[in-house]
Amino acid sequence: MPWSGCCGVLLILFACPPVVCLLLLTSCPPGCCCLQPGSLVLCESLGLRSLPDSVPLSTSGLSVARNHLCNVDHLLRPFSGLQELSLSQNHLARFPHGLPPSLQTLQLQENRITYITSGALQHLGNLTRLDLEDNRIRAIQPAALWGLNRLQVLLLKES
Ligand SMILES: *[C@@H]1O[C@H](CO)[C@@H](O)[C@H](O)[C@H]1NC(C)=O
Repeated sequence: MPWSGCCGVLLILFACPPVVCLLLLTSCPPGCCCLQPGSLVLCESLGLRSLPDSVPLSTSGLSVARNHLCNVDHLLRPFSGLQELSLSQNHLARFPHGLPPSLQTLQLQENRITYITSGALQHLGNLTRLDLEDNRIRAIQPAALWGLNRLQVLLLKES
């Protein structure tokens, strides 16, 4: 199920107090909220320094927003059906390597990314929306966006 951007995520969050989450979860990482098991996993504001274990590989939407993640390189590649990913409001210092090519929406706002190199995105040909607002971006290599044939929304604003 595609999210309608961050408002949709927020709505889902507010609609899911912990008690309700407990009722909804089947196999869900501790502390996370799993809606429609296997499809949408929310692990937000948990103080995570690493990705949660036991996120189902079939997950199509994952949010680990508002945590303390510094590096998720290659850890998400096994999620071959992941379409929506939020890593916003973490401590990532560079664009994550080894993201799954199935991604359609990638939210990276409010991290500490400084450079977008030409290889970082080249395998993400299904990406339609990329949110990089409020990072510390100094440079985007000219070829960095090549191959993103479906990209419709690219957000780079710094406030
Ligand atoms: C990219 O999108 C197409 C069309 O929706 C789909 O058939 C294909 O499997 C997707 N690629 C990946 C790697 O998920």
